Amino acid sequence: MELKPSGSLKIDTFSMRIGDIEDVELDRLHALSLSVGWPHRAEDWQFLRQSGEGLVALDEIGRVLGSAMWFAHGTDFATVGMVITSPRLQTLGAGQWLMKRVFDKVAGRDLRLNATRAARRLYLSLDFQPEKTVYQCQGIARAQTIVAPANIRGDVRSLGENDIAAVIALDAAGFGVRRAALIEKLFAHSAGYGLFRGDRLSAFALCRPFGRGHVVGPVVAESDPDAVATVRPHVADHSGSFLRIDTHMDNGEFAAFLAHSGMPVFDTVLTMSMGKRLPDFVIGGAATLTTYALASQTLG
Ligand SMILES: CC(C)(COP(=O)(O)OP(=O)(O)OC[C@H]1O[C@@H](n2cnc3c(N)ncnc32)[C@H](O)[C@@H]1OP(=O)(O)O)[C@@H](O)C(=O)NCCC(=O)NCCS
Repeated sequence: MELKPSGSLKIDTFSMRIGDIEDVELDRLHALSLSVGWPHRAEDWQFLRQSGEGLVALDEIGRVLGSAMWFAHGTDFATVGMVITSPRLQTLGAGQWLMKRVFDKVAGRDLRLNATRAARRLYLSLDFQPEKTVYQCQGIARAQTIVAPANIRGDVRSLGENDIAAVIALDAAGFGVRRAALIEKLFAHSAGYGLFRGDRLSAFALCRPFGRGHVVGPVVAESDPDAVATVRPHVADHSGSFLRIDTHMDNGEFAAFLAHSGMPVFDTVLTMSMGKRLPDFVIGGAATLTTYALASQTLG
């Protein structure tokens, strides 16, 4: 006699162990981010692994079920990102567990991250404080042929190797922490435009391949028109293809420029911090260097 199979099956819970993100194959990390609908390519994971450190949660047969990374700058600051748990594990405590392992690794550092809606409750329960909304703007880039470039003081030109030191210095002034190693890596993967007044770099925008197309960032400038002047050539370079930019600006000339360039707001995330806050959210002051676009949500 044949037994009729039951319509349901109870699967036992299983245990996980922590591993170093360096030790797992890239395609496993890629599969994890795909499982939560993120656009990262294997190359993007590779870049992040080269730029920071991380942990993975592995099951008994080595499948990657979770990840968390951190990017340390200087002696007392780090950003946290790529916090993912596999959908079938979510709300069971794995996110908390991974984050507490991260805390062990970054003890003593002030932390910042950009929280998705799904992650806000997790980070609030870990005592992260909300800081500011990030607007993820993206779409098919459209060079604005009708609107004439604003009357900009200075010259916009492509950045080269000789400009790296000035880019690092501007980024540090805008972000609030010097992150020379990261900017050097980004620079090597990016095309860059800078606004020069005489010999002085006044604003810059980098742009690199990422996810479905390219991402513009970081962008550091003293004013909306200066930021627009450095982003505009990237929009022209990628006109007709997918372009993304993550910014804290939701109004003013820069935000309007993005919307008119085919990059409306697609989603928002929330910048949150633990410990001392960075002083980079002072907007609108004359001659204040401001981060107009993040390097990415993960990198800050
Ligand atoms: C965000 C994410 C990492 C959370 O991981 P997780 O394994 O579900 O987290 P936990 O089970 O440890 O939950 C932590 C807290 O969030 C709560 N929580 C988790 N998912 C929730 C949901 N969908 N709705 C309401 N609360 C939720 C838990 O109840 C818990 O709260 P508590 O500490 O007050 O009890 C996971 O949902 C995920 O990978 N999402 C997709 C990728 C993503 O957005 N990553 C965040 C990047 S910033």
